[in-house]
Amino acid sequence: MRETQAIVERIKRVNRGYQRLELAVDRSLSSLLPGQALLTRRISKDYEAENWHPYLRDLWFPVDILASNMLVVERPAREQFVPGQLLSILGPIGKPLRFRQKLRNLLLLAYETPPTPLLLMLPHLLAQGTSLTMVTLGAARDYDCTHLPEEVEIIQASDDHNWHDMVMTLGWADQVFVLVGAGPEQTQFAEVMRLIRSRRNDVPANMIFGIFQRLLPCGVGACQACMLPVRGSAKLQCLDGPAFDLTQLRLA
Ligand code: FES
Repeated sequence: MRETQAIVERIKRVNRGYQRLELAVDRSLSSLLPGQALLTRRISKDYEAENWHPYLRDLWFPVDILASNMLVVERPAREQFVPGQLLSILGPIGKPLRFRQKLRNLLLLAYETPPTPLLLMLPHLLAQGTSLTMVTLGAARDYDCTHLPEEVEIIQASDDHNWHDMVMTLGWADQVFVLVGAGPEQTQFAEVMRLIRSRRNDVPANMIFGIFQRLLPCGVGACQACMLPVRGSAKLQCLDGPAFDLTQLRLA
């Protein structure tokens, strides 16, 4: 992980609530993998790299890699950007997601949050023939998925978090990644686990992973603010995450 600078090259609106920014980045970031993120801050031309500090940056999960020096991020349309905006980037942050070998059916659950951190994995998994289903629950249903690859099955849950063929969807999944909104994440992960357990008897270890996206005050393991209670130890989201086995996490 190191600090580099990037520039916003292009801006494209992808739906009513989100825009995609194409960032010209240092080549060292082109090997970034699904699950890894960037800590970013807007800077001006007279920014002096010697004065950098890691604190209070935005956490961005890229959604696509276009070339060896071009990343795409998705940001809310209300955030104002112009081409040419300079960024200071600290990254990559975190460990890549670990996919099961011979992964056939992957289920993605977004609960009360846009599914953005889940999007970088889509092209790679589709290319290897994995069947992908994304279920949006609660406020995640406000996210317009029409720009996502059409091979991804998108399901909107009802107000009481049910959907048609729910038992089947949960039953055939080889692996599940769950994303929840800001706020009491462990409570929301617990709600999703209750939902899954109400429809599926066996929930083995190493199958259902929660992806944390809380703000990281330092991102380098220095402040301990991102510590999570995992059975038998404590882990840091910035160094060990963002994905943790939900059967091993102490949930609210
Ligand atoms: S954000 Fe400071 S230790 Fe993880």
